[in-house]
This record gives sequence, C-alpha cells and structure tokens, in this order.
Amino acid sequence: MKILVTGGAGYIGSHTCVELLEKGYEVVIIDNLYNASEKAVDRIKDIAGKDLVFYNADIRDYEKMNSIFSKEKPDTVIHFAGLKAVGESVAKPLEYYENNIAGTLNLCKAMRENCCKNIIFSSSATVYGDPAFIPITEECPKGVCTNPYGWTKHMLEQILTDLHTADEEWNVILLRYFNPIGAHKSGMIGEDPKGIPNNLLPYVAQVAIGKLPFVGVFGNDYDTPDGTGVRDYIHVVDLAKGHVKAIDKIKENPGVKVYNLGTGKGYSVLDVIKAFSKACGKELPYEIKARRPGDIATCYADATLAKKELNWEAEYGLEEMCEDSWRWQSMNPDGYR
Ligand code: NAD
Ligand code: UFG
Repeated sequence: MKILVTGGAGYIGSHTCVELLEKGYEVVIIDNLYNASEKAVDRIKDIAGKDLVFYNADIRDYEKMNSIFSKEKPDTVIHFAGLKAVGESVAKPLEYYENNIAGTLNLCKAMRENCCKNIIFSSSATVYGDPAFIPITEECPKGVCTNPYGWTKHMLEQILTDLHTADEEWNVILLRYFNPIGAHKSGMIGEDPKGIPNNLLPYVAQVAIGKLPFVGVFGNDYDTPDGTGVRDYIHVVDLAKGHVKAIDKIKENPGVKVYNLGTGKGYSVLDVIKAFSKACGKELPYEIKARRPGDIATCYADATLAKKELNWEAEYGLEEMCEDSWRWQSMNPDGYR
C-alpha cells in the first residue's frame, strides 16, 4: 500500500514516515523544504533501512501535483504540509490562508482527478479555542480561534467534511494534535525550528544547550496548580504511530472521523522545565514574564475515543519526551544545518 505524505520532511512528518516504512508501507513525500531539510529525508531512510520517493514540490502547484498523483497512484494521503507559526500568522494572514487553504484545495483537486479519496489531516487542539470543558473530548464544541493559523485548521476541517458530504467516496480523518514534543530515539531526527523558537520545548532545549540564557515563563497567575499554563505534551513518536493506526481505520471506509491525539495528562510550564533539567543534568534558569496574548490556562485531551476506535494510546511520559528531545538537541546542536 502506498502512502503519499505532504510535509513529510518536517518534524511530525519525518517521524511518521519512519513508522510507515517500518510497517511496510511504500512512502512518497512531497515537501517544498520551506521549513525542512532534505537531510531529514536521508535520515528517515537510514533509520528505517528502506527507500522512499521524495519530490521537492509545492502543494500549490496543480500541474505538478497532478503529475505526481498520476505517476505514483497513492492509496491514501497524510497531509502535514502547512505553515504553523501562530504569531507569524497574525502578521501574514494572506500567506497563511494561501499556503494552508489554497494549498489544500489544490491538493484535493489533484487527489480527486486521480481517484485518491482518502485523506488524514493534521488538525490541532487549537480548534477548540478556549475549551468549553476539560478534559477535551471530540464532542467539545469548536471555539473561536485567536489567530489565522488556527482558523486555517478550523476551516480546513469544514472543507474536508464538505468533500465527503458531496461525495461519499471520500474518507477523511481529522487528527487533532495536542502538544507534540520529543524526538526519535536514535537522535537522528527531531524538531529544527528556524530562528528563536516560539514553542516551549525547543526554547527550553536551546537554553539547555547554552544558545539562550533562560526560559521566559509566560505568566504564573493562571488558575492552574502552580499558576503556569498546562498542556497535554505528547511524544512525537506516539503521534506518528497514531497516523499508522488512522490508516488502518481509513481502510474501513469510515467517512468522516475526528480524533484527539493526546495523552490525557496535563503538565505545567514549570513541570516541563523541571523534567528537562533532570534529562540534561543541570538546573535550567527561568524568569517569570507577562502572559502571552492568546494563551489559555489549561488544555488537555480526553483521548478515549482514539483508544476505542483506533486502538491507539500514547505510551511515553514526560520524562522520556525530555530525554529524547535532549538527545536530539545535544547530538545536533544546529539542527540539520
Ligand atoms: P513542520 O513545519 O516541521 O512541517 C510542515 C512541512 O510542510 C515542512 O517540512 C514544510 O517545508 C512543508 N510545507 C509547508 N508548506 C508547503 C507547501 N506549500 N508545499 C509543500 N510543502 C510545504 O511542522 P510540523 O510541526 O511537523 O507540523 C505538521 C503539521 O501538523 C502542520 O500542518 C501543523 O500545522 C500541524 N500541527 C502541528 C503542531 C505542532 O505543535 N507541531 C500542533 C498541531 C498541528
Ligand atoms: N510558554 C512559555 N514560554 C515560552 C513558550 C511557551 O512559558 O517561551 C508556555 C505557553 O505560555 C504555554 C505553554 O508554554 O502555556 C506551551 O506553549 P507552546 O507555544 O509550546 O504551545 P501552545 O500550547 O501555545 O500551542 C501549540 C502549537 C499550536 C497548536 C497547539 C495545540 O504551537 O500550533 O499547541 O494544542 F495548535
């Protein structure tokens, strides 16, 4: 069975490609390398000890997509490709809507043209906005997003659902990720942000390696046990395995399905700093700063639906997430560069 992975050279995509190859799937990657390195593609092959097909191509290029689909004839698409920096999306809404929404429409047209109507889409817990209840089940109403990035996920979920409404041959699985962190156990692939990281884990990792002086903690006056923000951190390899389970599900022609991929446990910013300090063997300095606009206090999943219907649950805890993240950071202080 052949799986086409858009954004397969990126952080979550690269880990997913390893799991797919190890399960015996044929893998075709499309990535324009906007936020990735071709070295990741080589390392995926090295870890899995198997080959794959890589196209340096943009999902917004219809002619190119059509020619790749007609040549490769994949059974299912896992669609990771997109821009994901929350703050940047506020400054560059047109670029975000163009890349994420127009790109996905284009991809789906090429899929339809070539009779490939199975898609697994990278959505996000961000679609819940400030969640109506915690832990968040898939029944929780979608909320008001605070930035264009979040709206692209919100809208694309609707667009993909409408595709199925119009044509029941489409199978659509919407995976709402919580906070992916960690790296492959080999230390060969991991998250490689450009410039100063926006997200907590890569920031903490760069403090640990000595590139940044201290962690700024965005607020300690939230209504949480220690006052800092609480999130559901999930090991990227667990997340990758969730995609392999979603492929098993899509083979059943399920129509439209939505699953939270999280651990069901919430950890605070201070918990993370403490766990990472233990992993890297030194106390990491931090300073309390003002709240970051748009942040919510608490966000963690109820992941029972994925367990019941996908037979998937996260295995790794925060300690392993930090250890693996540290191994990647210390083996590759400059990422793929
Ligand atoms: P990433 O930036 O590492 O991976 C995305 C990949 O898509 C990159 O390799 C990039 O080069 C590629 N890409 C972007 N635009 C493209 C285009 N027009 N054509 C071809 N390739 C293109 O990000 P990631 O963390 O691996 O995230 C993967 C997906 O999961 C994204 O859709 C993201 O929005 C979503 N997601 C991520 C998180 C997170 O915290 N990392 C959380 C929820 C959802
Ligand atoms: N935080 C800090 N200091 C930092 C960075 C973050 O204290 O330097 C805090 C935040 O305030 C928050 C927590 O750490 O309480 C996690 O923040 P991240 O930026 O790592 O992650 P978010 O939960 O804000 O958002 C991430 C992705 C979104 C995605 C969401 C899914 O960036 O794209 O997870 O739940 F939608």
